Amino acid sequence: MRVLAVDFGTSNTVAALAVDGGAPRLLAIDGSPLVPSSVFLADDGTLAVGRDADRQARLDPARFEPNPKRRIDDGEILLGSTAVPVVTAIAAVLRRVAGEVARQGGSVDEVRLTHPARWGRRRRTALVAAARESGLAEEPVLIPEPVAAATHFATLSGHGLAENAALAVYDLGGGTFDAAVVRRRATGSGYEVLAEAGLPDLGGLDFDQAIREHIGRTSSVAADPDEWARLLAPADPASRRAARALATDIRDGKEALSRYPHVDIALPPPFADVHLTRSELDDLIRADLRRSVDLMIRTIDGAGLRAADLAGVYLVGGSSRIPLVARLIQEGLGVTPTTLDQPETSVATGALYLSTGAATPAARSAAAMAAGTGGPGRA
Ligand SMILES: Nc1ncnc2c1ncn2[C@@H]1O[C@H](COP(=O)(O)OP(=O)(O)OP(=O)(O)O)[C@@H](O)[C@H]1O
Ligand SMILES: [Mg+2]
Repeated sequence: MRVLAVDFGTSNTVAALAVDGGAPRLLAIDGSPLVPSSVFLADDGTLAVGRDADRQARLDPARFEPNPKRRIDDGEILLGSTAVPVVTAIAAVLRRVAGEVARQGGSVDEVRLTHPARWGRRRRTALVAAARESGLAEEPVLIPEPVAAATHFATLSGHGLAENAALAVYDLGGGTFDAAVVRRRATGSGYEVLAEAGLPDLGGLDFDQAIREHIGRTSSVAADPDEWARLLAPADPASRRAARALATDIRDGKEALSRYPHVDIALPPPFADVHLTRSELDDLIRADLRRSVDLMIRTIDGAGLRAADLAGVYLVGGSSRIPLVARLIQEGLGVTPTTLDQPETSVATGALYLSTGAATPAARSAAAMAAGTGGPGRA
């Protein structure tokens, strides 16, 4: 039995494969387990995905969408002058995964797709439609991301999750923040979401935006506001390329600040490069991170638990690498959170450890939905 799990993220898509209940293996695509979730509409009408899309975006950024997951409610995305259904854009990303599985010589018997815990029926239906359109799966099993993350934590050596024990999952990715408290059930290997909440507008992209605004206040930029405005709302190919390059340099600089105390970010001419320190970044994003930690605290309250009752607080998602995240959690909850070398991969890997029982895929999908989501008022 070969099971494939796919975590379609705002910034990155991660796929993992398990054969006959063995240890999950991350699927390398273009040499990396993290595939950018981006799409680019080529001249011939095909959609390039991931690193190919990122590369071509430099040529014509108007045909590029870096984060289709953030556009899930839009119905269509304008790429150049063509309106592309969001489902088709997501399907292109999933098709890239399916193609790689086939290229590596494997079929799959079951496909599991993860989704933010707060996604309602409409968004989950769009995800399933994309899986069908891509040819990846007709009946994918849907699993809430925090449930997958908790399952992964349960398998970490030195941690584990005893029966009835509960875990807080703090997932800060590219586009969304998800907080959840997940309990391992007493019987079987199932998990239940005791409480969950999310901030759909908080993730690494917002920190990139905070840095962009900070740069806009620096002296060399302030001296030439018209040129900067052209860069923020690029209308011609040259400005679009410069804006695209700047977006990448800002993101890379932000990520480097998790490892180094300061970085220099290159700006396109006529502007001078910008020096940014980690403490400056911390000041830019502290209020947002506090909001996320406050929501984590309220979510634990909502589950009827105290921090001391938990088996741990598990940090998931690339933005949880920011050192201030662990510090604010320590201050707010009095608990040292658990982190992993590659927090972007916990959800895809964990989805494979989850036992979904012997029901049919459609029934399991419904069960996973009921376990994790489904409240009123959700998209
Ligand atoms: N070292 C780092 N420091 C700060 N941020 C980082 C670091 N590494 C990655 N990130 C950020 O993590 C984000 C991507 O994380 P991840 O792949 O977990 O998100 P995602 O799953 O695509 O998004 P979501 O779960 O919100 O849909 C990006 O914004 C990226 O810049
Ligand atoms: Mg994610």
